[in-house]
Amino acid sequence: MELFDAMRTTFAAREFTEDPIPDATLFKILDRARFAPSGGNRQGWRVIVVRDPRTREVLAELTAPAAKRYAAQQQARESPWNPIDPTAVDAATIERTPAPARLMEPLLRAAVVVIVCVDLKVVATTDQLLSRVGVISGASIYPFAWNILLASREAGFGGTITTLAVAQEPKLQELLGIPRHVAVAAVMPLGRPVKQLSRLKRKEVPEFAMRERWGGTPLSLPGS
Ligand SMILES: Cc1cc2nc3c(=O)[nH]c(=O)nc-3n(C[C@H](O)[C@H](O)[C@H](O)COP(=O)(O)O)c2cc1C
Repeated sequence: MELFDAMRTTFAAREFTEDPIPDATLFKILDRARFAPSGGNRQGWRVIVVRDPRTREVLAELTAPAAKRYAAQQQARESPWNPIDPTAVDAATIERTPAPARLMEPLLRAAVVVIVCVDLKVVATTDQLLSRVGVISGASIYPFAWNILLASREAGFGGTITTLAVAQEPKLQELLGIPRHVAVAAVMPLGRPVKQLSRLKRKEVPEFAMRERWGGTPLSLPGS
């Protein structure tokens, strides 16, 4: 598959056919994903392949509380789960907001759920002393997660990087026997998408790229 085709058509697949993903296919996908970069090439990724329906039910249950908050904040026109603006939505409102089924069902219906973990003992987290939420650790694991989606796309499959269950990380660690120093970066349902999207909605370059400094003139094509 041509690189740019893969980049622009790898979407967040949440609806899947009944087609299985055999271990051999999953192995091939991971065998391609492993060429992702990571800080110091330490490759702190670890993957748990979950097929057991009962485990998947618990994964969906653990997704629900964060999904309720996500939906409640969306309804209040907030940017859900952002770490800067405190939410104005109270706990009771969150509690009575239903968790959207589309955020949980893929975990039950996908051919397989891949848990992508990262060993924090090998991650160089250069922003850990700053007084803001960390982002640098993620850079050692999400290229790998994205490579799983790209390799899946090439093999005719798809999936989604999901993170809502991670709000319950201690319970995830207990469920799956993950040590405390290993973080869960993504819970990824994978399967054969019911339909293949080809027109992803994304901002144009001049909307996010600027020259020389923040607020500088937008980067646009010469002559435009
Ligand atoms: C870090 C990250 C976390 C995400 N968490 C979730 C999630 O918990 N549940 C979910 O359904 N989608 C999740 N997504 C998927 C995004 O919603 C999706 O990538 C985005 O809406 C673009 O979708 P599209 O490629 O189909 O246009 C996440 C994506 C990223 C990159």
